Amino acid sequence: MRILVVGKGGREHALVRALAESPGNPELFCFPGSDAIFEIAKPVEADGLESLVRWMKSNAIDLCVAGEESYLVKGEGLANLCGKNGIPCWGPPKESAQLEASKEFAKEFLVRNSIPTARATATDTLEEAVAAIAGEYPTVLKFDGLAAGKGVAVCPDQASAMSFLDEVFTQRRFGPGRVLVEQCLTGPEVSVFAAIIDDQYLIFTPARDYKRAQDGDLGPNTGGMGAVASRRLVSQEILDQIEKEIVRPTVDGLCRESLPYRGFLYFGIMLTPTGPQVIEYNCRFGDPECQAVMPLVQGDLAAFCLAGANGELRADLISFNDGWSVCVILASAGYPESSRNGDKISGLENITAARVYHSGTRRTADGNWETHGGRVLAVVAGGDTREEAVTQAHAAADLVEFDGLQCRRDIGILNF
Ligand code: AMP
Ligand code: GLY
Repeated sequence: MRILVVGKGGREHALVRALAESPGNPELFCFPGSDAIFEIAKPVEADGLESLVRWMKSNAIDLCVAGEESYLVKGEGLANLCGKNGIPCWGPPKESAQLEASKEFAKEFLVRNSIPTARATATDTLEEAVAAIAGEYPTVLKFDGLAAGKGVAVCPDQASAMSFLDEVFTQRRFGPGRVLVEQCLTGPEVSVFAAIIDDQYLIFTPARDYKRAQDGDLGPNTGGMGAVASRRLVSQEILDQIEKEIVRPTVDGLCRESLPYRGFLYFGIMLTPTGPQVIEYNCRFGDPECQAVMPLVQGDLAAFCLAGANGELRADLISFNDGWSVCVILASAGYPESSRNGDKISGLENITAARVYHSGTRRTADGNWETHGGRVLAVVAGGDTREEAVTQAHAAADLVEFDGLQCRRDIGILNF
């Protein structure tokens, strides 16, 4: 089987590794990929969506796996173009990927399908947004479009709300678009991933990511400084409630509204005092949750995704390890405000009891690795208990060094 994965970060490195370890020994390709990914997948000569799909067709690709979201909504849409060319794609078509690309579309879908979510009002101007906030703080403001993780502000007071609204409506930092004014929910968050195939689904191991830069969940928001994954992260009772009130109605809603879906769907959920509520959908796996979850997946992920892309849920092909997995992100100097490239990475060869996925690295001419991005590496270890996974992951992370390295010491330990 010849599989092409779309993306270039730590999530795609983990996906490519999991697919490569599938028993059928598939041949892997990746676009745009990274130096680390190219150690297990071959690069692709393409310079955009259409040329990528042409390449897939002329290179007899059996399955396209969408790692990151941007290609799903670009141009005609990755899955739409694959469909036209008869290439099975694990990832939804453009019309369904609006669940991630437009927060307003997602909110209306949630409300229409009676899925628990925060109340929200869509606004077109700064004045409308201020009126919708109605002096109620904290409030949550969401730019209605893809904003590379920067489009959401949880505002404790008027000053922070005005500053975000000014960025969106006056400076147009994210381009044109509306703002959703949303009720602020409270409670621990959990990321639930399901493989969705038309009217069927399979829920993967739930995870939690650590979004803030510093220990104790302090400091600015980041793309994610680590993650913990386990079936035991949330009680069976809550998982059952999430399935009954959120996952099943989402899948039924997609079918009823003729929104085709074959791929991973990520439910960002807050466990509020009145029950689980959806705070966002993403039409892909989470990053860094993917790096924590993939090592827990056993069986034949490649065959599972191929069957899924062809409309068949083959739950018998995979199973989930019952233990724990902890992923510690090592970030470069300046992250998340900026990042620093070119710091030499050492110590990777000393890691034996953990997996390392590369998020932002580059191979130098002399064969070493250097930093090349904000999030640099994901160090992931497993264990039968949470403590074991935590200890192994942090011990392995300690073996890596580079100038300016930042990492949180409480990943997997701090419980929200
Ligand atoms: P999102 O980009 O939608 O995942 O939002 C980023 C983060 O903002 C979430 O992970 C939450 O921590 C927070 N957030 C989003 N929506 C809400 C909400 N309605 N109430 C409280 N926090 C929220
Ligand atoms: N971990 C958050 C995300 O992937 O969006």
